[in-house]
Amino acid sequence: MQHNYSYQAALSASERVGWKVEDLIGGDKRLDFNKPFMPESLAQVKQLSFLTPEEQLALNQIRGHEYLAMFGLVEEFILPYVVDHARPQLSGNDYRVRALLQFAGEEAKHIHLFKRFREEFENGFGSKCDFIGPAEDVSRFVLSHSPLGVAIAILHIEWITLRHYIEGVRDNQDLDPQFKSLLKNHWLEESQHTKLDTLVVEEVVANASAAEIDQAFKEYAEIGAFLDQGIQQQAEYDVESFVRATGKQLSRAEREQVSDAVLKGMRWTYLGTGMTHPNFLDTVEAIKPEARGQIEAMAPAFC
Ligand SMILES: [Fe+2]
Ligand SMILES: [Fe+2]
Repeated sequence: MQHNYSYQAALSASERVGWKVEDLIGGDKRLDFNKPFMPESLAQVKQLSFLTPEEQLALNQIRGHEYLAMFGLVEEFILPYVVDHARPQLSGNDYRVRALLQFAGEEAKHIHLFKRFREEFENGFGSKCDFIGPAEDVSRFVLSHSPLGVAIAILHIEWITLRHYIEGVRDNQDLDPQFKSLLKNHWLEESQHTKLDTLVVEEVVANASAAEIDQAFKEYAEIGAFLDQGIQQQAEYDVESFVRATGKQLSRAEREQVSDAVLKGMRWTYLGTGMTHPNFLDTVEAIKPEARGQIEAMAPAFC
């Protein structure tokens, strides 16, 4: 892929961002439960015309809770991955070492941030929302794959956070300002992660054989299928949380429609937005041209 990313530039951009968790949540910085948390492009609740606006709002916020939990979950494996990648070479290129440790530090901060928002959510929403896990099992499964397979999956995740913010949040004036600030500040740091992870992928590719590259793309698909299983389970949890929160009596057909809308929204949010991201696909193509076509062929099921 043609790019001008460098460890030095990413480090310097990251040092200019530098927010703290307590800048974004806590004290008088509270979630406003009268407003949606997620952009409609990701939440996809408005099509459910048999729900009242209040019920659509509750479902939107449940999707917001799920988003916090899902990013908390995936960042639990990104953090050790980045630390492991940095560890063998802690001298030599000072910018590389500092940029990678900064990357890891930011992911640790994001894990903390998502947890704090979940606490605020749980205090204010009024009923319980379940979430898949535990995160340790997910991490163990994902990290059991080759460094290149995992790096490609992480690159997908880094790019989706940018897309979510730029396409659905940046110009959206309807969202709760606190939730929007979480998405904005996450985006500000993830913007460096996309570049750093592209550099990481390129480093791993430089030492990989053709067979290892083939294997890595199989693993990317395996990790995606694993996440999709989690998504299917979580979609059911979201529907149960919705019924618990609103007391809504859904007919069997309505429940199926809610379930389908949540599943479709989740698949687009976590899988489709990455599998169709032009920058992600450019990197994929540079590694293995046929892999781009394979991912593009799989993508419509998640869009
Ligand atoms: Fe993050
Ligand atoms: Fe990240």
